[in-house]
Amino acid sequence: MRDAVLAILLENMDRYVSGQEMSRTLGITRAAVWKYIKLFENEGYLIESSTKKGYRLKHVPDVLDWVVLTNRLNTTVLGKNMECHPTLASTNARAKELALGGAPEGTVVIAEEQSGGRGRLGRRWVSPPGKGIWMSIILKPKLPPEKVPRVTVMTAVALIRALKHAAGLEAGIKWPNDIICNGKKLCGILAEVNAEPDIINYAIVGIGINVNLSADDFPEEIENIATSIKIETGREFSRRSIFQAVLESMEEIYLNSFNDENFERLLRDYRAYSVILGKRISVVGSAGEFVGKAIDFAEDGSLLVQSDDGRLEKLWAGDVSIRGEKGYV
Ligand code: BTN
Repeated sequence: MRDAVLAILLENMDRYVSGQEMSRTLGITRAAVWKYIKLFENEGYLIESSTKKGYRLKHVPDVLDWVVLTNRLNTTVLGKNMECHPTLASTNARAKELALGGAPEGTVVIAEEQSGGRGRLGRRWVSPPGKGIWMSIILKPKLPPEKVPRVTVMTAVALIRALKHAAGLEAGIKWPNDIICNGKKLCGILAEVNAEPDIINYAIVGIGINVNLSADDFPEEIENIATSIKIETGREFSRRSIFQAVLESMEEIYLNSFNDENFERLLRDYRAYSVILGKRISVVGSAGEFVGKAIDFAEDGSLLVQSDDGRLEKLWAGDVSIRGEKGYV
């Protein structure tokens, strides 16, 4: 019932809704409606009350509540099923449990805070409460397992478009999964897959977006290479607006340009947003370290690098980490 009352207020932010109208629509007393209004006020919602006109929602706090996140969300698959948690070890781990239990495609798991946020190559992902978007999406792409790198390509392009649309930020992609702004990391993507030889059972797309983090929210070891939307723009953003822009942009690509026919076009955008293509980079992997020039991304998700000693190296995301010649990018 709480969610139904909130949904009515959100739908009618441009007008007053009378207590009588709400009580009639929901089949509860006007006193019960009033109790919910008080509850929302305690949660940080700003509601104007008028004895004659009723209630009007004036301000929505920046909380991860599924009613708020899905209100006016323009998607048909992504986010139709959602779990919002105050805290989780990792949204990817929770999404995996749900996927194994048969959760539908498009299910989103989001948390205010992660106590064990994970990054690529076993790294930690800093996920303090209330300041970022830490979420995972379950996808069931009808693709053979070798095409799974497409999921990261799609997500990276979707993030770039969403950041531009919702925050006016020009960001770039550092292969394979970093979203960069002014040389520092703004978002990370961690795609994990469960597959059989011929089909993908599910893919978990973990997305971390540093929205309202300040410089001192990052531990010392990453403070020079990490950034946030707030640091880059000088202002705070509602996580709902960024969340919705990301989901809408991802779904647009997933439903329209994810197939073989259109993937080359998507890859063209990925190349255009790349911050390493044509640049000299240093590559660190289990087989050692070398320096070379980033030449191209292949359809299979690999990166081609012309090494300084003349070899053409094909790099896979799971194996290596790259750096710009002079620093992080
Ligand atoms: C990386 O840059 O190495 C990937 C970072 C991915 C972080 C996100 S936050 C939500 C999801 N849950 C996790 O534990 N990791 C991903």
